[in-house]
Amino acid sequence: MPVNTLDSFAIIPTGKALCAEIRGVDFAEPVPYDVRDAILKAWAEHLVLLFRGMSLDDDQLLRATEYFGGQQEAGSRGYFMRAGFKPGETKSVSVQPGISVVTNLDDDGNLQNFAKAFGNLPLKWHSDNSYVEVPPTGSLLHALVVPIDGGGETSFNNQYLAYETLSAEMKTAIEGKHIRHDGHRSTTGTLRPTMELPQTRDDITGPVHPIVRINPLTGKRALYLGRHYEFPSSHIVELNDEDSEALLVPLWAHATQDHLMWTHDGWTAGDLLLWDNRCTMHARTPIDHTQPRVMHRALIKGDPVISPWD
Ligand code: OGA
Ligand code: MN
Repeated sequence: MPVNTLDSFAIIPTGKALCAEIRGVDFAEPVPYDVRDAILKAWAEHLVLLFRGMSLDDDQLLRATEYFGGQQEAGSRGYFMRAGFKPGETKSVSVQPGISVVTNLDDDGNLQNFAKAFGNLPLKWHSDNSYVEVPPTGSLLHALVVPIDGGGETSFNNQYLAYETLSAEMKTAIEGKHIRHDGHRSTTGTLRPTMELPQTRDDITGPVHPIVRINPLTGKRALYLGRHYEFPSSHIVELNDEDSEALLVPLWAHATQDHLMWTHDGWTAGDLLLWDNRCTMHARTPIDHTQPRVMHRALIKGDPVISPWD
C-alpha cells in the first residue's frame, strides 16, 4: 500500500464530538506538503487525529512535530532537573528535551507493581502544560506497549463546543477573565519535585491565561481551563477565592460533559494520537498495575496564547 499521497489519504470521523482516524499516512517516511496540508485541515476540523500502525523511534517522533510547528520541551522536565536529576538518569528527564516517556514502568524497566504507583494513577482532565507561559500547541502520543483490557483509556473533549454551548449568563460571567494556572501538582494531583503544597492563592506562581482563547488554526474561541485541583490552586485572578471557585466549579462541570467527549478505549501498540491543546482537554483512566504500558510523547511548540479580549 502506498502511503503519504493524496490518493492514500483518508479521513474516518469517529462520529463523536471530536476526533477522526487518518489512514494512508506514515510519519516514518517524509510527508509531502500536499499531504501535510490535508492533515492540518483534518486537524482543524476534528481536533484530535488517530493514526494507526506506526513504528516511530524518538527521532522520527520529533521529526513529525516539524510538520506542525516543531518541538517543545515538557514543563515537567524542568521541575525534575531543578531537583537535581540529570538527563537520562530518570525517565522523567529524557535525554531528548522534546520527548516525555509516559509509562508505569520504573527507571529499571520493571513494573511499578502496585496500584497507587505514580505511573498507574488516573490523569485528571487537563490541557498539556497549561502551567507554562507559552503552552504547546499540540501533543503527539505514540503507544509502544499497551495493556490488554487493563485501563489507560484516554478521553478527549471539544472545548470549542464547551464555549459555544455556555449559557449567555456564563459567557457574560467569564468575559474578560483570566486564570492563573497552577504548576505545583502533576496531572495525577501529586506534588511536583521541589514544590510545596500551596496554602493560599499567593503561593500559586503559574502563568495567567485568558479563560477563553482563540485558536489561530480556525479563528474560533475555545474554553481554556487547564486543570482543576483543590483550592488553593488555579483561580480566576479577577475574583476573590470564593467567587473564583463558585464560577470554576460549574464551568468545569459544563466543560467535561460526556457529549463533548470521545474516548480512545482500544489503544493498540503503534497508535499515534495528535491532539490540539488549544481547544481540547484530555484525561486517562487508571492502569492495571500488573501490565506494562509505555508511550512516548512529543510536544508541539506553542505560540503565545491569543486572547479574545486583551
Ligand atoms: C500525556 C497524557 C495520557 C495517557 O501524555 O500528556 O495525558 O493516556 N497522557 O497516558
Ligand atoms: Mn496530558
